[in-house]
Amino acid sequence: MKEQLSRRDLLAKCTALGALTLGPGVSVAEALDWANPQNRAARMPTPWNELGPFYKRDAPHLAQLRAPGDPALPLTVSGQVFDTKGNAIEGATLEIWQANDAGLYDLDGFKYRASLVADTRGKYAFDSVMPGHYPGRVCQHVHYLVQAPGCKPLTTQLYFATDPVFEGDPRRNYAKDPLIQTADLVRPVSLVRTSQGSSASVTFEIVLEALDRL
Ligand SMILES: [Fe+2]
Repeated sequence: MKEQLSRRDLLAKCTALGALTLGPGVSVAEALDWANPQNRAARMPTPWNELGPFYKRDAPHLAQLRAPGDPALPLTVSGQVFDTKGNAIEGATLEIWQANDAGLYDLDGFKYRASLVADTRGKYAFDSVMPGHYPGRVCQHVHYLVQAPGCKPLTTQLYFATDPVFEGDPRRNYAKDPLIQTADLVRPVSLVRTSQGSSASVTFEIVLEALDRL
């Protein structure tokens, strides 16, 4: 009698036999979860937010934006890019740009600007600094322009729940910045204090809508 193997069984056997190579940092459990379509939950598209006046094309493909000695709270942002069916989008491009600690954008060069490419699991990450406040904008933010074949380009902004403007309650106070139309763009911040100092990390998942089909 022939053995019937599910996709999960097959992947597990291939992995055990060494017939499947997992990427760096990919556990067997993660690969098994990824292989199961039932684990790809439908997701709401990430809300749109203003492009703003400080976008520049052709930012470098660099994930390390913070230089040693930069005067600011170190910030790591990571996330994953999905479609609305919950499939990770490999190769999505993420252009990000932000002000420095003093609230200034680099208009002559590309400091705190990057063009990133999501990996095979749609993951991206960059090391930066917590952006400063600047005149004309109420809240600290990082700009995003995310694009992938077959998807609508998304301009949006990432905000930080630790921003003093929110007075500890971004769900109630997000509209203190008139450009923020939903608290969904305000992300929790994990603060870590070590003997070397403090640092912050944030997770920001991106969900792109499919292009309309005629
Ligand atoms: Fe801005």
